[in-house]
Amino acid sequence: MALLREPLLAAARSPKLRTVAEKSRLTRPVVDRFVAGATEPDALRVTDELIGNGLYVTLDFLGEATTSLEQAGSTVRAYESVLVELAKAGSAERAEVSVKLSAIGQSLPGNGEKIALDGARRICEAAAAAGTTVTVDMEDHTTTDSTLGIVRELRADFPWVGAVLQAYLKRTEADCREFATAGSRIRLCKGAYAEPESVAFQGEAVEDSYRRCLGVLLAGEGYPMVASHDPAMIAAARSLAVRNSRTSDSFEFQMLFGIRPDEQRAIAAAGHRMRVYVPYGDEWYGYFMRRLAERPANLTFFLRSLTSK
Ligand code: FDA
Repeated sequence: MALLREPLLAAARSPKLRTVAEKSRLTRPVVDRFVAGATEPDALRVTDELIGNGLYVTLDFLGEATTSLEQAGSTVRAYESVLVELAKAGSAERAEVSVKLSAIGQSLPGNGEKIALDGARRICEAAAAAGTTVTVDMEDHTTTDSTLGIVRELRADFPWVGAVLQAYLKRTEADCREFATAGSRIRLCKGAYAEPESVAFQGEAVEDSYRRCLGVLLAGEGYPMVASHDPAMIAAARSLAVRNSRTSDSFEFQMLFGIRPDEQRAIAAAGHRMRVYVPYGDEWYGYFMRRLAERPANLTFFLRSLTSK
């Protein structure tokens, strides 16, 4: 099954396959296992349910690798709108948003970084008005420097902006040291893209790196967000939290919508903060294909949906 990871991640980048899959109505029921729905009301309904179950939420308006200024602007507006609705619903204390910079123009030729920074600032202003936070997702390694640069700029005005660091990158332990400072929100994940050995650990070395990064973050002054479904990583975080005398409000666990939901509730019931990453919208293809690559067993359900009437 591990052999399927690379082709699935390559398929995740194919615009042709994306168009076919996103247009097929048959795929939607399978996709909905991992995605809250196509619309903002879907996202708000799922947010309500999760909060009702004692969980926290981060909402992701699906989209990535935006190719037009217009599309980047409409993604920013979607975030502004959902933040207003979260505040109206009284959910902003428990629900924030996650943003991919490539969805708001980072890879546009010319001044893409500036466009993404301006868009991210608008989202941060909307989050501040709603009384919540923003976390910046991390994409493939060619974007890490640019993304962390934008995060540093945003933090000058909005110190609560969070960033994702990926344990599979060899640079990440050093990045954890830089970001383990007071007030700094860091979401540590293993990493979901196909990365070369020159920059990324492979296989079990990723887990060793995750443990080292956890050690740095939990011993530091910041607010670590432990994003993993792996019981070994969760156990490591729990024991490091005890060793570093962390209180339950000084770090949190995070998982993706639809993955290990019983465990999500169990961790919350044990007195920890557990935040669920909830994607919504039509542009589910790249996100969904990365979930398939993590667990090719999911592929069977997806293929069945494509072939069934
Ligand atoms: P691992 O993949 O080893 O999974 C452990 C166990 O979890 C599996 O054995 C299985 O039981 C279950 N599981 C995991 N994935 C599953 C799936 N797709 N379907 C069903 N079961 C599954 N990555 C990135 O590069 N940039 C980012 O910004 C983010 N953001 C992010 C936010 C949050 C909140 C989370 C939880 C994850 C991310 N990721 C991410 C994804 C992350 O890098 C990683 O690919 C996945 O979390 C899978 O890694 P695990 O640590 O869960 O371990």
